[in-house]
Amino acid sequence: MKKSILSLSLSVAVSLLAACGGDKVARPYNDGVNIIPTPVEITSEEGSFLLKSSTRLSADRASEVVADYFAAKMSHSTGYNFDRKEAASDVIRLLVDTTLDVPSQEGYTLAVTSDVVTVTGKSAQGVFYGMQTFLQLLPAEIESSEVVDDIEWEAPAVTVRDYPRFPYRGMMLDVTRHYNDVEFIKKQIEVLAMFKINRFHWHLTDDQLWTIEINRYPELVRVGSVRHDQDGSVHSGHFTQAQVREIVAYANERFVDVIPEIELPGHALAALSAYPQYSCTGGPFKHRQVWGVEPDVFCAGNDATFEFLENILDEVIPLFTSKYVHIGGDECPKSRWEKCPKCRARMRAEGLKSTAELQSYFVRRIEKHINSLGKQIIGWDEILEGGIDPSATIMSWQGLEGGIQGARAGHDVIMSPGAWLYLDKYQGDPEVEPMSIGGYLTLEKTYGFDPMPEVLTPEEGKHIIGVQGNVWTEYMYEPGAPEYFIYPRILAVAETGWSPASRKDYSDFERRVDNAYVRLDCHDINYHVPMPEGPRSDYMAFTDTLRLAFTNTRNYPMVYTLDGTEPGVGSPRYVDTLRFVDNDTLKIATLLPSGKTSRVRTIVAAKESLSPAVTSQSRRGIVSRIAYGMYLDSVAMAKAKWSAPKVVSTFDTKWVESPHYKEPWVAVYEGLFEVPQDGVYTITTDQYLLYVDGRPVIVNSDKIATRHLHNKNTMALEKGKHSFKLVVNNRVAGGWPYTWSKATFYYMAPGSSKLVDVCNTPLSH
Ligand code: ACM
Ligand code: ZN
Repeated sequence: MKKSILSLSLSVAVSLLAACGGDKVARPYNDGVNIIPTPVEITSEEGSFLLKSSTRLSADRASEVVADYFAAKMSHSTGYNFDRKEAASDVIRLLVDTTLDVPSQEGYTLAVTSDVVTVTGKSAQGVFYGMQTFLQLLPAEIESSEVVDDIEWEAPAVTVRDYPRFPYRGMMLDVTRHYNDVEFIKKQIEVLAMFKINRFHWHLTDDQLWTIEINRYPELVRVGSVRHDQDGSVHSGHFTQAQVREIVAYANERFVDVIPEIELPGHALAALSAYPQYSCTGGPFKHRQVWGVEPDVFCAGNDATFEFLENILDEVIPLFTSKYVHIGGDECPKSRWEKCPKCRARMRAEGLKSTAELQSYFVRRIEKHINSLGKQIIGWDEILEGGIDPSATIMSWQGLEGGIQGARAGHDVIMSPGAWLYLDKYQGDPEVEPMSIGGYLTLEKTYGFDPMPEVLTPEEGKHIIGVQGNVWTEYMYEPGAPEYFIYPRILAVAETGWSPASRKDYSDFERRVDNAYVRLDCHDINYHVPMPEGPRSDYMAFTDTLRLAFTNTRNYPMVYTLDGTEPGVGSPRYVDTLRFVDNDTLKIATLLPSGKTSRVRTIVAAKESLSPAVTSQSRRGIVSRIAYGMYLDSVAMAKAKWSAPKVVSTFDTKWVESPHYKEPWVAVYEGLFEVPQDGVYTITTDQYLLYVDGRPVIVNSDKIATRHLHNKNTMALEKGKHSFKLVVNNRVAGGWPYTWSKATFYYMAPGSSKLVDVCNTPLSH
């Protein structure tokens, strides 16, 4: 039932051999033109260009660095050493022409004939993008880091004229909830640049971790970058200033601007854990151990807070070449400010009528400092509340409204609304996907987003400068896990940011994604592959006959086995409902055109007889016991000092001394629930453990959050009463306290898809 991303990355590593630079297999994904983002204008011509060991790569001075980059890249996969000479034929020619007729410095033209490839950029960045387009005309294996020799490096003859719809095409990565290191970030930048993404927004500070070295305030790293989670585990990580410079230089070589985010005035608890004197109460604090919004924020009344933040910014800003600094500004509760004498004095002194205006005072004061250093701020859309100068750029995340309001008020706007561009949501059925923050955001939905609200006039619309996909990492527990959420959805963001709306076509995009997958394999990217969906559980009980039907979000073929072996290209294709009359184990996976499979679903088909109902007399209420303290697992719980049993009416925790997760306890509820008919029931809970008729039906994780009734099981039950034992473990697992989910369990009756909360049914003991 566990949906580990780690096991997926292992299967990716194995199949990579076949998919990227592998054996002599058909490569249908290389058919046609597979450019992402699709160009503004592309015309097919007669013939094709063949890249050979004799091919030359010539560049004018302005394109030399770009030529070096692509010569190195193409030599890895082809094994050729591209002679850097001008020639009349068998040559790839790179030029900058500042007078090129394209409306953006990032624009380029590309002419591929059977003799010559000419890439002309309006700037070196344009040449870079022209070459990325040329590489996408070649077989996907051109991205391989190892020589592929059983392939013709052939690109169809075309002419292309291309330039971006928007100047800002970004991705944000949160390294504070779960840290990912320098190598991971470089890898993402390398791949994002292939798809003409030109901004990397680096969310460096939050309540859960401070991740950038500041020499003047060493405690920010010593204390702020080490989080002690409630279960005693430690999560830590930071970037030295040398590493930051290294990443910025690496990104700049790929024409990616790195934008640091230093969050203020809220989402600041990691900093305040190190320097509590800059809060309203003075602390002391520990990093926030759960996800969500923290009430303790920077004090707006204390001049020393501003001095602290300005000193930090004075160190941060010279590390970056971007003109932008992101200052956060989202989700700042005002409860501490309302009670703080210093904050109240500030409001009086400055004539501020509300704490919203106090937030605006805070942001403006920081903005002034950043402007004095020659940079401009970006803030989340809440910075509009209480007013902000038009020079601030608004990042519209809560919806389109902030962006619309911002554009009308003369702000530049970057659209990153959660409903389309938060790449931390489920990409398929939560029942088969790894735990995520929630929501349902398929590739198609992300692709369908248009950043230009129809309500804006053309003049206001000029303020929409681009789009960004955001990757918050609360539920991305393992290092590398964000890749599964980023790809392929970020490719949809890339196309939305670059291609004219009139050129977008989702079904053609899907076809091009199939080619891009192989490019991603070459970079060892652990992208999402649609999973076989349908059965709710990986244990499917039945009493007579079981029928299992599968779909996947891309309508890819699926392959399966019944002999315990792993399904692959040669396994039977799933055609229609599978029927089982005996115990069996099904392994089923989605099959990509490259021959790679998704993570395999192993489903046990289990013939059961009905678990008999309890016939003895019972009384109303259920029996509860409690043990205060923290219990990480069942072994520890068995040794706990339990209270005497007590009869309570339901699972609520009103009888518990302190239901707050900071004072942990574990409660066990035992009793009888009643089911209305004979048959197979689907059973689920987000609580820690559930036994039915003595069988462990749900065993949730010690380490990751359990939400969204993610784990389900099935069991054949006779009509009537059945015993249960529900364990509510009031502690934090993976940033989510069990008590944030309802203490109960649910069933789905045979033939129904409706969940019944047992709290609403008769309970007895
Ligand atoms: C945000 O998602 N709180 C910007
Ligand atoms: Zn204060």
